[in-house]
Amino acid sequence: MPGYKKERNQLSKVYVFDHPLIQHKLTYIRDKNTGTKEFRELVDEVATLMAFEITRDMPLEEIDVETPVTTAKTKVLSGKKIAIVPILRAGIGMVDGVLKLIPAAKVGHIGLYRDPETLKPVEYYAKLPADVEERDFIIVDPMLATGGSAVEAINSLKTRGAKNIKFMCLIAAPEGVQAIQETHPDVDIYIAALDEKLNDHGYIVPGLGDAGDRLFGTK
Ligand code: PRP
Ligand code: URA
Repeated sequence: MPGYKKERNQLSKVYVFDHPLIQHKLTYIRDKNTGTKEFRELVDEVATLMAFEITRDMPLEEIDVETPVTTAKTKVLSGKKIAIVPILRAGIGMVDGVLKLIPAAKVGHIGLYRDPETLKPVEYYAKLPADVEERDFIIVDPMLATGGSAVEAINSLKTRGAKNIKFMCLIAAPEGVQAIQETHPDVDIYIAALDEKLNDHGYIVPGLGDAGDRLFGTK
């Protein structure tokens, strides 16, 4: 895919979006002095830019259109059905940004939180579009840390019949990427930055802190 830097080439592919606008905005998302309002706006903007990249492989079909001059053979999207699924709660911050480019997408929700002691994900909610098997899914979450939440969300979608899933996040740790690749090698991963490591509390270093708290102003 042009414009992408492939970091690994196992079964699931990892795409790091090195577009200057994405990298510029991500810098201010990381900055601890960025307040809630600006943080939310930046996450929304980066989600839109990432959606532009992630839809690069959408299928097209040729149609005829009458221009004022003649008949042109030209292309339109071939009606692929998409669903966006944020992992609650921080994933919500990326939904509207993606919908700006794919307004007809349906939106499902998977509610997961990390147990602060075990760091294991706990599912508390799941609601998907009825026609799960016909849709291509894009799971969104700003952070891929241990990978526990992402793996569980993918499990949850697959259990309900989803067959084609992409995972999109702002910042990933190598541990999280590896967890998806080992458990769901069919799921490609789209990220704005691949960071260095996790700290002892399972936070991404350097990361951006707690994405949910920064988006919603909680602590
Ligand atoms: C954060 C983040 C991911 C998860 C990543 O959510 O939004 O869902 O942690 O960590 P993992 O890869 O180690 O599972 P959190 O559990 O803090 O819940 P929240 O969105 O409700 O704040
Ligand atoms: N969840 C977050 O919000 N931030 C991290 O760094 C890791 C998990």
